[in-house]
Amino acid sequence: MDDPQELLSLCKRRGFLWPAYDIYGGAAGFFDYGPLGAAMKVNIESHWRRLHVLEEGLQELVCPMIAPEPVFEASGHLDTFADMYVECTGCGETYRADHLAEGLHDNPAALKDKELGDLLRKNDVSCPACKGELTAPKRFNLMFRTSVGAGSAKVGYLRPETAQGMFVNFSQIYRFGRERLPVGAVQIGRSFRNEISPRQGLLRLREFNQMEAEVFFHPERKTWPRYGNVKAEMLSLMPNNGPPTSMSLADAVSSGTIANEALAYFMWLTQRFAVDVGVDPARMRFRQHEKDEMAHYATDCWDLEAETGYGWVELVGVADRGCYDLEAHLTHSGADLTAFERFDEPKEITKEVVRPKYDVMGKLFRGDTKALAGIVAQLPPDAVRDRDSVQVDMDGRKVEVPSTCYELAVTTEKISGDKFVPHVIEPAYGVDRILYTLLEHAYRVRDDYVTLSLKGLVAPVKVGVFPLMARDGLDDIARRLYDSLVGEGLAAYYDDSGSIGRRYARMDEVGTPCCVTVDYETKEDGQVTIRDRDSADQVRVKLDDVICAVRNMIEGRSPQSPANM
Ligand code: GAP
Repeated sequence: MDDPQELLSLCKRRGFLWPAYDIYGGAAGFFDYGPLGAAMKVNIESHWRRLHVLEEGLQELVCPMIAPEPVFEASGHLDTFADMYVECTGCGETYRADHLAEGLHDNPAALKDKELGDLLRKNDVSCPACKGELTAPKRFNLMFRTSVGAGSAKVGYLRPETAQGMFVNFSQIYRFGRERLPVGAVQIGRSFRNEISPRQGLLRLREFNQMEAEVFFHPERKTWPRYGNVKAEMLSLMPNNGPPTSMSLADAVSSGTIANEALAYFMWLTQRFAVDVGVDPARMRFRQHEKDEMAHYATDCWDLEAETGYGWVELVGVADRGCYDLEAHLTHSGADLTAFERFDEPKEITKEVVRPKYDVMGKLFRGDTKALAGIVAQLPPDAVRDRDSVQVDMDGRKVEVPSTCYELAVTTEKISGDKFVPHVIEPAYGVDRILYTLLEHAYRVRDDYVTLSLKGLVAPVKVGVFPLMARDGLDDIARRLYDSLVGEGLAAYYDDSGSIGRRYARMDEVGTPCCVTVDYETKEDGQVTIRDRDSADQVRVKLDDVICAVRNMIEGRSPQSPANM
């Protein structure tokens, strides 16, 4: 759409979105969902929950939004979750340095501090507001820091993603899943990032909503039970090494375009969700991260992007993150975040070990022999091979152990299974960006007013109920109909003011899929008129059949389709 502002003003006027803290001058990067926006958000989240929790069997968790510092030391956020900013030496405005370099480089976000500074300087980039001189880029950690407790309080951070709550709970998730892989968890909730320049309405917020899944796999078996059902389905792909293409999941995996079956499956599920809720398939694609854009530990990563008035926008990231997250928490916390897979039959394995020679060691090291032998026995064979001695660390002391004190030996042992750190595949969705895209893709100007052609699944109001006149008993029938619709869990809106045309227009503008009008004939024949929002077609149905007709229309069927389809 040419001007997203038109949509944003409709959203404000009709109760979808309000700028937060408006009476105090507003706060950049924060939005309130009004009644219709809040209902739509819940509808989006409910459908996501249905696909991921109900259909795929992932475990839903609700974890705290504040986490202690060690969590983010382990995850790497404390060191690396930063953007670069520049400040205007004239007016003091701050900007994300890579945003100012857009159009000057293919991927400015991947540049190092100095490279980005040089690029801006060479191109004479100045303050967009006052043309003042800009400082060199500085790093800014995006996490909101807080203190937990009184007195010498501990440092905590508002979570920048919902993911960490699931990683730190891996053992519980694994146990709850009866110690079988693949197993996964999801979380729907708020995340916080102190964005340097929040902009573009809902697209870059300081407080936003995520829906994330963390699905854990055996490193050599990255597939999903339902992969076979969908492997012939098509995905629209923009690989990092070739032209945009449409490919089946099976072809994408066998050609190496997508790293594995599990990643392809969760990309397909992302596409299914997006289409279900109303992202226009013709304005949607999966873009593979460039090599310099991908985290160093990630095996493969694709963003589901949608075309909007702000350009192509990332709605969801789907990544194979390897074992990075669990290994990081295992190392920092010392907790056992491994999985164990029992073999059908125990296996005998032979391996090379370093075997201490106690008699020789005893003569040289006396009272330290036992401790030293324990350390030496843990050394990898390559650490001692072909060397005259090895230096080890004992209680902070460096001890040189000559090769006469140990030997390389081959041992055989029986093992009953395999202990390993699982790999994770992570689909990470942004609710606010999805909601904004749905509104944009549904936006049509018709008969001089806007109609939002929202999918019935996400529409905040499912049906408008109107008496032709608010008298002569028509209002009583309409009220009873309204009560029976809401009693069935269908969000209905009762409206008895203004012309019927105005009432239709009001409902079209907020995306209500259908409206029911009670007129004088209803009193004679017990029938009402149902109007479809997009075609404006009207049909008569019996009062007793209205609920079924409304359900049909919400699901995109004709109002007279048979019940229980
Ligand atoms: N755990 C991985 C993770 O959080 P991400 O790509 O940083 O990945 C996932 O975030 C999604 O969250 C994005 O695709 C986007 O839709 C949404 N998102 C991220 N930052 C956002 C912001 N500042 N405002 C609104 N949505 C945001």
